[in-house]
Amino acid sequence: MRITMIGTGYVGLVSGACFADFGHVVTCVDMDVSKIERLNSGDIPIYEPGLKRLVSTNVAEERLFFTTEAKGAIANADAVFIAVGTPSRRGDGHADLQYVYAVAEEIAQHMDGFTVVVTKSTVPVGTGDEVEAIIKKARPDADFEVVSNPEFLREGAAIKDFKIPDRIVVGTEDERARAVMREVYRPLFLKESPIVFTSRRTSELIKYAGNAFLAVKITFINEMADLCEKVGANVQEVARGIGLDGRIGPKFLNAGPGYGGSCFPKDTLALSKTANDYGAPVRIVDTVVDVNKARKKAMAGKVIAALGGDVKGKRIAALGLAFKQNTDDMRDAPSLDIVPMLQEAGASVVAFDPEAMGEAAKLLPDLELAKSPWEALDGADAMVIITEWDQFRALDLERVKNTLNGNIVVDLRNIYRPDNMAAKGFEYTSIGRPSG
Ligand code: UGA
Repeated sequence: MRITMIGTGYVGLVSGACFADFGHVVTCVDMDVSKIERLNSGDIPIYEPGLKRLVSTNVAEERLFFTTEAKGAIANADAVFIAVGTPSRRGDGHADLQYVYAVAEEIAQHMDGFTVVVTKSTVPVGTGDEVEAIIKKARPDADFEVVSNPEFLREGAAIKDFKIPDRIVVGTEDERARAVMREVYRPLFLKESPIVFTSRRTSELIKYAGNAFLAVKITFINEMADLCEKVGANVQEVARGIGLDGRIGPKFLNAGPGYGGSCFPKDTLALSKTANDYGAPVRIVDTVVDVNKARKKAMAGKVIAALGGDVKGKRIAALGLAFKQNTDDMRDAPSLDIVPMLQEAGASVVAFDPEAMGEAAKLLPDLELAKSPWEALDGADAMVIITEWDQFRALDLERVKNTLNGNIVVDLRNIYRPDNMAAKGFEYTSIGRPSG
């Protein structure tokens, strides 16, 4: 199969590299010249475990190419994937589809022979119809099908999620297009990954419904955590106790500082807007959006309370800035609410993150950055764990105590045990668990 991937962001780059690894010949197109130059010189613009190696192997074996020239790449392809961004539109929260539609115009200009046009970007219901209309208008004689094939990969585990997916969703009722998509995903068929063939609109909605459901699950356990704190219960045990019920399931029940990232915040908002537009509001999702926003802000209050209610003149060490571990992505990260609020309350904040400090420096210009967790902790009045990086899970606690000025630890990811921390002499606050 000859596959062309338009857009070399997270989804495009990971999907392109994985398809090449399946044995297809993949051309990744991006109009950002410097990005393509970087990729061609083996420099990967994002941090994702395993991606650098996957890209370099497939480039070396001549199955993976990067170019700014869309024309030839589209003309030669059996399937063209649209993997450009669909950010929240400023002002109203709707997904901004201008990049998707611009790519549709470009595909129309250059396509040659039967071409399957696949939307991999997360797009609202009905976008496939619009893409089809754009192409038909520009090229009434073109032979093509527009398919929805949403991506379910998680940052930090993207390659595994792509290669061992829970399911693949393909939205098209056209048999020729289904045959092409079967071929594209052949190695996964052989591994018997479930494939859901459905209509295009259903497929588009599955993506939003999936992300919204997970956001509901996280927000539910976060609210249970707040209740646990009031009644003296333990949210991790509540999560285990309910998660063993097969109807609920154990995953995505880690209470924390609120969900962030490039997907859940944007997709819950977009789903809520679409639902309102169609007169079928999804009130549970509306509530989740509000509760999650408020939660991120409330986390700064939790830190301030742990420091006795006043942080004026205090120095606070933040461990982790990315929205979760194993990524340098700062989009909608809880740290973006927590750090400025602590600063506004009069604290100085010094932070360390293994991968996200470059991004963080752009978004949090007043933040002091440290070269290691120890440099951040040196003389600080409290250690606040914001992101659950593995390297923060087993810090030498004696050294932490000797490096900090005092013994206050606020763990917003529940990576330490309250009883252990209390025994070691820390004043330890976590999420939804008694102090120990
Ligand atoms: C999410 C989905 O998990 C993917 O399936 C989907 O493909 C992707 O969005 C997308 O739409 O592109 P991602 O945003 O990379 O993936 O990250 P997640 O691992 O899902 O985490 C999202 C947020 O929820 C993070 O802030 C994380 O800390 C938080 N979270 C997750 C919790 O607070 N508790 C949990 O138990 C799980």
